[in-house]
This record gives sequence, C-alpha cells and structure tokens, in this order.
Amino acid sequence: MSSSRTQARRTFRTKYLLPGGLLGIAALGTLALVFPGTAQASTTKAQNVTASVKACGSVNLKGVSNVYNTGNPFDSTKLVCFDGMLIRYGDSAITYTNPPKSYVAAGKLLFDQTCSSCHGSKANGVSPSGQATIGPNLQGVGAATVDFWITTGRMPDSDVRAVEAERKPPRLTDTQALQVAAYINSLDPAVPAVPTPNLKGADVAVGADLFSLNCAACHTITGAGDALAFGTNAPSLQDKQVTAQQVAEALRIGPSNMPRFSGNLTDNQVRDVVAYVTEKIQHAANPGGAGLGGVGPVAEGFIALLLGVGGLALICFWIGERS
Ligand code: HEC
Ligand code: HEC
Repeated sequence: MSSSRTQARRTFRTKYLLPGGLLGIAALGTLALVFPGTAQASTTKAQNVTASVKACGSVNLKGVSNVYNTGNPFDSTKLVCFDGMLIRYGDSAITYTNPPKSYVAAGKLLFDQTCSSCHGSKANGVSPSGQATIGPNLQGVGAATVDFWITTGRMPDSDVRAVEAERKPPRLTDTQALQVAAYINSLDPAVPAVPTPNLKGADVAVGADLFSLNCAACHTITGAGDALAFGTNAPSLQDKQVTAQQVAEALRIGPSNMPRFSGNLTDNQVRDVVAYVTEKIQHAANPGGAGLGGVGPVAEGFIALLLGVGGLALICFWIGERS
C-alpha cells in the first residue's frame, strides 16, 4: 500500500514536477533575457546639457561624458559659433562634427560637377524646368547623411533604376565627401553632423546584446546580411571596408530601408554596437572549425550533411563488397 503510494509519488515527481520545473526555469530565463535588453535610453534622469559659444575654432569634447546623449545637440554638450553655426556636439563616446565653412566653396564646385544632374542645381530635387529630378531633395539631411552616401560609394549613383543604391568603391575622397557635405549643409543647416566614435571605453558584450536585439533581424546574427523585401537587401557587415564611422553614421541616419536609431540608442550604446561590429563581426573567431561564411544553420547544416553523409557513403561504397 505505502510502497505503491511512494511509487505514485515518484511517478508524479518525474512525470509532472520535473518537466514543470524545467518549463518554469525556461520561462523565467526568457523573461530575464527580454527585459534588461530593451534598448531605451533613460530620459528620466536629469540631463547634463551645456553649451558654449565661441568664435569659430576647434574644441575637444573627448573629456566630456554624458551617458544620456541620444545623438543630437539638444541633449548634449555643444559648441556653437558667434554667428550661430553649430560646430560640434556630443561627448566622450561619440563626437559629432560639422565640416568647416572653408569647405563650402570647393564642395559647391564638386556638387555642380557630380551631383547636380540628378539632385538639381540647388540640391533640392528640382530641375531648372521645375520638374522633380531623379535624385531626392538633399536640403536638410545633415552632413552625416551626405558623408555616408559618398564614402560608402553609393553616391554618385550609377544605376538609378536599382531599388537600392549599392555600396561600391567611393568615387570621391573622404575630404571631398566632407566638402560636398559642407556645401549641402550650408543650404539648410541640419543634424546629424559627422560622428566620430571613440571605441576605447566601449563594452563589446553590451554591443552584442544590442546587436542581436536591434540589428540581427535584418543583417542576421553573424552580420552576413540578408535579402529583405523585393529588390532590397541588408548588406553584409563582415566587410572590413565598413568603417567604425560608417556604422555610427548608418545608425544615426538610417539609410533607405534601414530604420534610424536616434533617440532610442544613447551615444554610449551606439559606440558599443560599433565596437561589436568592427571588433567581433569583422574579426569573427570560429572555435568550432571553419566558419562557412556564417550564413546560418540550414545552409551550413546542408554542407555538413553533404560532406559528412556523402563522405561516409563513399567510404561504404569503397570498402563494401560488390556482387
Ligand atoms: C545618376 C543620378 C545620381 C547622381 C549623379 C547622384 N545621385 Fe544621389 N541619389 C540618386 C538617387 C536615385 C537616390 C535615391 C537612392 C536610394 O534611395 O537608394 C539618391 C540618394 C541620395 C542621398 C540619400 C538621400 C536621403 O535622404 O537619404 C544622398 C545623401 C545623395 N543621393 C547624395 C548625392 C551626392 C552628394 C551626389 C554627388 C556626389 C549624388 N547624390 C549624385 C541619384 C543620384
Ligand atoms: C529593417 C532592417 C534593418 C535593421 C533592423 C538594421 N539595418 Fe542596417 N541596413 C539595412 C539596409 C536595407 C541597409 C542598406 C541601405 C542602403 O543600401 O541604402 C543597411 C545598411 C547598413 C550599414 C551600411 C553597410 C554598408 O555596406 O555600407 C550598416 C553599417 C548597418 N546597416 C548597420 C546596422 C546596425 C548596426 C543595425 C542595428 C543597430 C542595423 N543596421 C539595423 C537594414 C537594416
């Protein structure tokens, strides 16, 4: 009687308690994974906003720290000229700099030669005859947008029928990109200015967390890139040509089909993501053997199946008897 009851209790324990407990632990683990990871910049804390107005010149913001900056001059330390021109803002994680006024003249010349045919002579997306140009209005996009599209080689465009301008070797130099940015920004001053991430204090583990939450859906968890909707794709981030500055720019401007991460990621978080992309994704360690391009478990499993099972079958054919 009592032994059968013990038996019943044991069955109950293994049949219900054990799986139930495991499920509970899994559920708690999932909750713990979901909650601390949400990428929201805290705006409840008092913000430490300072502005200094100077005759135009260069000032170093590297020593300034403000973990709540979200990438615009309104919530960060900034430097403005006497004439109202915004020179620089940000903090020790990322410094945003507008190209100097002295670049405007050279930029106008370059723009007239290489961009105006598609974007209009005033960069406003209107042709001399008043019709819309092939390229969109560029006034008010901010220097970072212009710099990103030129330094990644997307502009000047070569195939206007493509749904998405592809990355290619840049036609203009980095300085020329800043000159054109200075000219377009002078027509309608706007932000974001060009970000320079300072990766020294970056936390790559936090960056990995933020990447899996905010980027992996499109770029895949290994950063290999993937196709999106018709004709568009999220490019590979494993390409070492993608610089730290371009990653920060992409986040703050949101090129074409990529969302813009401004407001929901602080400068500190953007710096961590940039460090993760340039230090881990671009230099992946593959402790399990060959990396196979990191395209995902289905494709890689297929290769393992082909080589593994195929190889075994060949060996069987070789050692087996034929009749
Ligand atoms: C052959 C035509 C062509 C030329 C030349 C060209 N563009 Fe473009 N540009 C386009 C088209 C089309 C788009 C929209 C592409 C897309 O969204 O993928 C575009 C988009 C852009 C964007 C993105 C705008 C935004 O709001 O996101 C920027 C910035 C830009 N061009 C700057 C330039 C600059 C600077 C030059 C000169 C160095 C230039 N373009 C030359 C056709 C051109
Ligand atoms: C909704 C999908 C989507 C998400 C989410 C997304 N991206 Fe993108 N990303 C894109 C697309 C599409 C492009 C290409 C845009 C173009 O060609 O104009 C791109 C381009 C880029 C580029 C430029 C690469 C190059 O070759 O020039 C970088 C860097 C980048 N993304 C990083 C990130 C990071 C980091 C995150 C997460 C914080 C992220 N992206 C989130 C879709 C996405």
